[in-house]
Amino acid sequence: MPASVLVGVQWGDEGKGKIIDVLTKDADMVVRFQGGNNAGHTVMTGAEKYVLHLIPSGILRKGVPCVIGNGLVVDPVALKKEMDELSGRGIDVSGVQLSNRSHLIMPWHKQLDAFKESQAAPDKKIGTTMRGIGPAYADKASRTGLRGGDMLDLARFETKFRDGVCDYNRIFVPLGAKQLDANAEWKPIFEAAQFLRPYIIDTVQTVNLAARQGKRILLEGAQGAFLDIDHGTYPFVTSSNTTSGGACTGSGLSPRAINQVWGVVKAYTTRVGEGPFPTELKDSMGEFLRQEGGEFGATTGRPRRCGWFDAVSARYSCMVNGVDYLAITKLDVLDKLEEIKICTAYKLNGRTIDYFPADSGELDKIEPVYETFKGWMASTCSARSLDELPINARRYIGLMTELLSAKAGIISVGSGRDQTFKA
Ligand code: GDP
Ligand code: IMO
Ligand code: MG
Repeated sequence: MPASVLVGVQWGDEGKGKIIDVLTKDADMVVRFQGGNNAGHTVMTGAEKYVLHLIPSGILRKGVPCVIGNGLVVDPVALKKEMDELSGRGIDVSGVQLSNRSHLIMPWHKQLDAFKESQAAPDKKIGTTMRGIGPAYADKASRTGLRGGDMLDLARFETKFRDGVCDYNRIFVPLGAKQLDANAEWKPIFEAAQFLRPYIIDTVQTVNLAARQGKRILLEGAQGAFLDIDHGTYPFVTSSNTTSGGACTGSGLSPRAINQVWGVVKAYTTRVGEGPFPTELKDSMGEFLRQEGGEFGATTGRPRRCGWFDAVSARYSCMVNGVDYLAITKLDVLDKLEEIKICTAYKLNGRTIDYFPADSGELDKIEPVYETFKGWMASTCSARSLDELPINARRYIGLMTELLSAKAGIISVGSGRDQTFKA
């Protein structure tokens, strides 16, 4: 049975965690393939709320192995904490597998993340999650990173760790970065490494074995297409490939193993952090979406910027991701609106364009061209089939799928597991 990839179509926080949890009902393994604990994936099971940062969102379905793939950057202390917290709530984490090829976020990466942001001019700040993501991926690319597998030999790991602290103190402290005390920093890292060692394996082998055995594998993306290091609104992006191509490099599965791509898309648009956002609403409508949609970051608690659905960017995203099926989330957030707008084209320097510009400066100058639709003015949260949706809500979904040239696969009308149905 081939694998399915699920990715965010917009700027992250589309509801990927919820949809992964729903799809895991019919999966044998869930694999995260990029990012780190910059992600915050929310799953509600009844009244219980879980926010997963590093562990795949399939963990709440008992007995499904959850793989932290080679494409991630992993803060060992944060991972231990997440596993401890889940265990404390009665969730079985014995199925967690941590790739020996994953890269480690070390204390100096977090310091450098904060230092670079504090030194950047106001218009150059990215608004990162301050989790050390960029500096850890930079070390990976520079071939100076520490990896999951390094934690297997604690004596050698300690030497590498102390060398890392020394290098950081020597190079960056004179520039104004905070001095790190190797002894104080080592203690929690050592505890985390000791705890994590039994979970560290060659996940490329386990994932490929599962594929060969015909197991149903779900690959869980983090962030969204416009935070992708290649396809996003560079430089206001994260440091990994969040689009579906990243699923292969970040898990070790070959493209042949993947036969289905799910794109999770919000019925409107949000972004957290800095950078271009053509359909952003800085008025009371933006505030309405934020309040109605509970749009506050699951990782940092920051208010999310909100705006209308942007079909131009989402179409680009669906193309790059090869989206077969859309999981349309948060339709219910639009329930009270008399009128809803969709951006169907961009104007740049007075000319209408239908592509997504590569340049952030150009994106800042985009004027969105909107089409206005009648809202449905009725609650959708208890709908459990397309037929139970108001006609205008069905039309809105129809329009989204038409504009994105993808099929509707799942509709979500609330944060609950049951508030989901096949389209
Ligand atoms: P992720 O990062 O893509 O997993 O998304 P987040 O968890 O950061 O943000 C999505 C938020 O929307 C979470 O609080 C979810 O509980 C919530 N959510 C997911 N789907 C729906 C939906 O259809 N309707 C509503 N109202 N909330 C939803
Ligand atoms: P999930 O998986 C929304 C944003 C940050 C910042 C930029 C770079 O929950 O959808 P980083 O810390 O990665 O260097 O920050 O990316 N960002 C996210 N925004 N959802 C996320 O993850 C995000 N992960 C990072 O706000 O703008
Ligand atoms: Mg999130």
